[in-house]
Amino acid sequence: MTDFPDMIAGEGSLAAYLSAHAPRVEEALGNAGAVLFRGFDVPDAQAFDAAIEAFGKLGFTYEDSLSNAVRTNITPRVFTANEAPPQTEIFLHHEMAQTPIYPSALFFYCEIAPSVGGATPLCRSDRVFDRLATEAPQFIERLDKEGVRYTNFMPGDDDAGSGQGRSWKSTLNSATPEGAEKRLKELGYSWEWQSDGSLRATTPALPAIRELGGGRRSFFNQLIAAFRGWSDSRNDPNKAITFGRGEAITADDMAPAIAIADELTYDLQWQAGDVALVDNFAVMHGRRPFRGKRRVLASLIS
Ligand code: FE2
Repeated sequence: MTDFPDMIAGEGSLAAYLSAHAPRVEEALGNAGAVLFRGFDVPDAQAFDAAIEAFGKLGFTYEDSLSNAVRTNITPRVFTANEAPPQTEIFLHHEMAQTPIYPSALFFYCEIAPSVGGATPLCRSDRVFDRLATEAPQFIERLDKEGVRYTNFMPGDDDAGSGQGRSWKSTLNSATPEGAEKRLKELGYSWEWQSDGSLRATTPALPAIRELGGGRRSFFNQLIAAFRGWSDSRNDPNKAITFGRGEAITADDMAPAIAIADELTYDLQWQAGDVALVDNFAVMHGRRPFRGKRRVLASLIS
């Protein structure tokens, strides 16, 4: 797909560009689902922060989120992308679609481009949905009817060696099990404490398909990432996802979704100074494995 993402090439301050052209950028985002800003002068996290500020949208903070990933804030609105090890692939997902609270869009900024690998795969979920509706209609019908539940194990303390390593204390914003349980109850989760101090949490049935308006629908969920990637010393990907009524989603169920998404994926190869804006409802993202140094920062829009 050569038409994806839309690229806006320019020079000088990205903050100045975004404050002057926000409506044009929004339109490009609505059409393409992702916009790449290349050639602008974005030397560091502070310049990235200023560009986001200039765009004028409300932020969505990592502390308030139920993200599973371990991250570090650089500025109040900018944080490191998932800190999982370089050889770990992060599979396609919509940011935080495995929780009831998610951002509408994400900004990425490449401070240091990796020398080998490290692209950000992007995939239009509305196109994935359209293909699945024809090629796997029963799967789609069932997702539509039942939604999905996600189960994951959160360690007692952050484990930066895993893409699923954020502790329950950080995820649920509580230092005590009592406080964590209160939050889980509010969210409608079920849970079980483990003997090693970790917590198994299962979400209520969450929608797996989202209406985008104008009759478009997207495959808005975390199924591919959970099924392919939620694997560490605590998590078993075969137990991570079920249909809303609790029956397992199998490898056979997932095969068409994975194949179609792979086919439709565009690898964004970063250059230092690049900024990308991604519509979180229409486009999935991930991270290819890499070697050497790579620094990509992210920021979420409410
Ligand atoms: Fe992500």
